[in-house]
Amino acid sequence: MRHFISILDISSEDIEGLVDLSFYLKMKKRFGKNEKSLRDRNLVLIFEKPSTRTRLAFDFAAQELGMNTTVIDKTSSQLGRGEPLIDTFRVIERYADAVGIRTFKQKPLEEVSKLISIPIINALTNEEHPCQTIADLLTIKEKKGKKNIKVAYLGDGNNVCNSLLVGCASLGIDIFVATPEGYEPNKIYVDEAKLRAKKNNTKVVITNDPIEAVKDADVIYTDVWISMGDKEKDIDKFKPYQVNKNLVKHAKKDFIFMHCLPVHRGKEVTEDILESYHSVVFDQAENRLHTHKAILLYVFEV
Ligand code: CP
Ligand code: NVA
Repeated sequence: MRHFISILDISSEDIEGLVDLSFYLKMKKRFGKNEKSLRDRNLVLIFEKPSTRTRLAFDFAAQELGMNTTVIDKTSSQLGRGEPLIDTFRVIERYADAVGIRTFKQKPLEEVSKLISIPIINALTNEEHPCQTIADLLTIKEKKGKKNIKVAYLGDGNNVCNSLLVGCASLGIDIFVATPEGYEPNKIYVDEAKLRAKKNNTKVVITNDPIEAVKDADVIYTDVWISMGDKEKDIDKFKPYQVNKNLVKHAKKDFIFMHCLPVHRGKEVTEDILESYHSVVFDQAENRLHTHKAILLYVFEV
């Protein structure tokens, strides 16, 4: 078994393999032949922050693979009364075969995972959203192919951005990130992305200039300016990074617009772009179902 906690620990080859496996599983479902190879295994999902897509996609993906699933959250479990995460995991490993968790800090999760004998899957932390990245890469592959692609990420250098940086670099996709000063992605993810991009001879550029990022882009990606659990922010600083008709003029004519959702219309993106034919946000959301299956098979090494 293996964990799926940090994108930094997943090799470029494994990321590519997960994207390809997700596509295969998507096609299998389309032809009515769901993979059932995890029959009778138990999955526990823990949500310490709200979720719609991750919760549903993870739960249905597991069930379609033949697993039994149970979801708990902070308010209705003893986590809300301060039971330590490690004790919760030690109990879960007696009942279940795998656990997915959406929580706050990445480091404590990594520390706890060293003591746990069942696979742990990161369903979002403050620093990473690796499950989202696999679905994003599948969407980019389906819409644009894998090579000679430029992705522009605009807005907050948050969890989605950190993971996307490493994911794109792993697959040889150029990634330009434009954020306000002080909101750049974390250095460890930028450094790792640069290392992986070097092997592929592709670009990782971090800038404060939204036009430099969007120029000739195939993909424009944004996320909320204030993430769950974030402190207050100076929203005015983010306004030049809004995805709107003036900004997208600089991209390729057939660019696609991506967002992990949920979206704040009129904040990080205008309604006209979100609802335009460029937008693939619901295909992207659908892909979460297929990629969660691939991730489950990956952690069990099936
Ligand atoms: N994109 C995503 O993770 O959505 P949820 O917060 O609804 O799970
Ligand atoms: N960056 C967002 C992603 C939500 C799916 C957050 O962490 O709130």
